[in-house]
Amino acid sequence: MASLNIEPLHPELGARIAGLDLRKDLVGDVLESVREAIDTYSLLLFENQSFDDAGQLELTRTIGEPEPSHVARGEGKLEYFGTIGNVQPDGSVVGNSHKKTIFLTGNNMWHSDASFKETPAFLSIMCAYETPAEGGETLFVSTRRAYERLPEPRKAELDPLIVIHDYVYSRSKVAPDAVSPQLAASLPPVRQKLVRRNPRNGKGSLFVGSHARAIEGWSDARSRALLDELVDAAVAETHVYTHRWQPGQVVFWDNRCLIHRGAGYDADRFRRYMRQTRVRGSGPTLAE
Ligand code: SIN
Repeated sequence: MASLNIEPLHPELGARIAGLDLRKDLVGDVLESVREAIDTYSLLLFENQSFDDAGQLELTRTIGEPEPSHVARGEGKLEYFGTIGNVQPDGSVVGNSHKKTIFLTGNNMWHSDASFKETPAFLSIMCAYETPAEGGETLFVSTRRAYERLPEPRKAELDPLIVIHDYVYSRSKVAPDAVSPQLAASLPPVRQKLVRRNPRNGKGSLFVGSHARAIEGWSDARSRALLDELVDAAVAETHVYTHRWQPGQVVFWDNRCLIHRGAGYDADRFRRYMRQTRVRGSGPTLAE
């Protein structure tokens, strides 16, 4: 195993890895050590990287199978990128009242990327190009640590539960017509384990967030109470790592055991342009 230059970012998650050029160094032992660091730290930050979309897609393929964008797929297109921010393909910006900005505020609720897919995302990869001078941070929390903090009898109660994750449910909190009928039809609600286990180290984590609508077999009210209780406990201030973005940063995060949310920013005043790809998970959580 190669030894990496690792500096932890928060007691519960995250590490900065220095000295790697992600365009060429992720091979052999180094790649294996980076995989191990993902399993240990859940979030990896690489600075001073130089990327474009082609390079980011290649990087994504180095880690695993790129996950197609569900939004593009709902429009009948195959695409691997999502833009996080207000900068458009022609370089212009959209402001706070634009429907694209409003749609992206759905990301300001705690969530795990693509938890509404039968095979949810493993890793998200974000390359930062333009970042606002104020706001625009992304907040991360370890749901592995949240699970570890629970008493053993509580863990035993939660372990067998199945949660329904539903994209239409979560996006309708942002705007009632946020999801087109075509997109909704392509993303029916899915069943997910509430407690997942890392295949390498066996550590459990809570698979929760804004897409989690209900506990299978429970009433809506009882489901909501439990799901809210778990997230509220997980995201208490001391457990949050707040990432302040700078251009040239690349961040990997493990959606199996982290939830995250955008802090928001003023899209009327600032430009924000980050590109996100995702590595597909290894299969349905029910088969884990
Ligand atoms: C995301 O949900 O992937 C990004 C959130 C943000 O920082 O806007």
